[in-house]
Amino acid sequence: KARVAVLISGTGTNMAALLYAAKAESCPYEIVLVASNNPDAAGLALAAAEGIATWSLSHKGMNRDAFDALVDDQLRAVGADYVALAGYMRILSSDFVAKWQDRMLNIHPSLLPLYKGLDTHRKAIEAGDRHGGCSVHVVTADLDDGPVLAQTPVAILPGDTPDSLAARVLIAEHQLYPPTLAAYVTRERSAGWLLGRVRDLALALPETD
Ligand code: GAR
Repeated sequence: KARVAVLISGTGTNMAALLYAAKAESCPYEIVLVASNNPDAAGLALAAAEGIATWSLSHKGMNRDAFDALVDDQLRAVGADYVALAGYMRILSSDFVAKWQDRMLNIHPSLLPLYKGLDTHRKAIEAGDRHGGCSVHVVTADLDDGPVLAQTPVAILPGDTPDSLAARVLIAEHQLYPPTLAAYVTRERSAGWLLGRVRDLALALPETD
């Protein structure tokens, strides 16, 4: 199975959704670490109770590059293949993003490319949109900007507040993230397998002059 580390900053309900989905024998990934920049993140206790290794350190007063290098050390120490950001509310250093290029996904509570950054639900309601929603995307150097892998639109109801919309979008997030991560690691792994086969076959070919 692909080894996934999850980064959280808060409640960690998306992390829980990823973790519960991983309990299925057929799931192509396993969660090997839950790490946080917030030692009080509620999700840490949940992960620990599920028998998952956890690590946390407050980023306060630390230089971004230095902090992200420590996170990277933890990810390498557990042999992570992929990183799943799940409510990780820190901008990552470009160095860290480069190290995990094509190996890091994020879930964002809007229909990207609409409403990058914070306050997404309020922005969707104020714009008069018919739908809010969520997106899972590959993380690249620019914030909330990488290729979108999957999205779920969620209808905005009359009288919706940012909180009431956020609560329904969160349900959609929990449905969206696990299968999207599973499909991503499966696709990546089969691509790797295929390349390996091509190389093996090339090596097995008789030498020609
Ligand atoms: C989720 O709605 C997630 O999409 C959002 O934070 C919430 C975390 O909830 N992420 C971002 O806004 C990232 N910029 P959770 O801790 O319960 O998974």
